[in-house]
Amino acid sequence: MERLDKILASTGKWSRREVKQLVRQGRVLADGRPAASPEEKYDPEAVEFTVDGEPVGYRRVTWLMMNKPGGVLSATEDGRGTTVLDLLPPELRRIGLFPVGRLDKDTEGLLLLTDDGETAHRLLSPKYHVDKIYYTRVAGCLTEEDCHAFRQGMVLGDGLHCLPAELEILSAGDSSEALVTLREGKFHQVKRMLAARGKPVQYLKRVQMGNLTLDSGLQPGEFRFLTEQEWKGLEMR
Ligand code: URA
Repeated sequence: MERLDKILASTGKWSRREVKQLVRQGRVLADGRPAASPEEKYDPEAVEFTVDGEPVGYRRVTWLMMNKPGGVLSATEDGRGTTVLDLLPPELRRIGLFPVGRLDKDTEGLLLLTDDGETAHRLLSPKYHVDKIYYTRVAGCLTEEDCHAFRQGMVLGDGLHCLPAELEILSAGDSSEALVTLREGKFHQVKRMLAARGKPVQYLKRVQMGNLTLDSGLQPGEFRFLTEQEWKGLEMR
């Protein structure tokens, strides 16, 4: 059972304060009857809510896709700087969302946020084969030998064993561009693998995770809810 204001605010459409007003104005119905108070508790899976006659798409879990900007931490709280949670409106900051895995502070791109711990854990485990694809620009000229080394599974200087990965060269020259596909997400992994090839990363952006591609309509710092089809696809993996 959950409070009505929490249920409606979790859709991201209204703040709790707005929910209070909507309830007072008699615009919120629960199973066809006007809701009495925002504090009233309901089983959100069993009750149908409408606002101004429109059904409220309640989500048992919340999934957001963010285009993470550089300079922001993939954390829920950090005394030292802005986190991705700080980029959300207040009503979404309080519902227990956390980032699914981490991108480095300077890395941009696709970051999922959810309150569904179980599915998040599966998405991050190499066992479930969720490929993560990164666009990168590096200093130096990428070559077929670099691609081969990635495919073989690299062992880094500090002993880190990397699973076989893919390096697709998009352009090669004094600086090069490529797509890197990883099945795991060890600390600074893309940067460390490319540094080990003598091609330090200058820019890094995650563009895909499993079947989800970064929405090209999202500017850095913007987010959107995953569609039902998108988050059900993640749960069913
Ligand atoms: N690999 C990195 O080096 N950094 C990231 O943020 C993600 C993958």
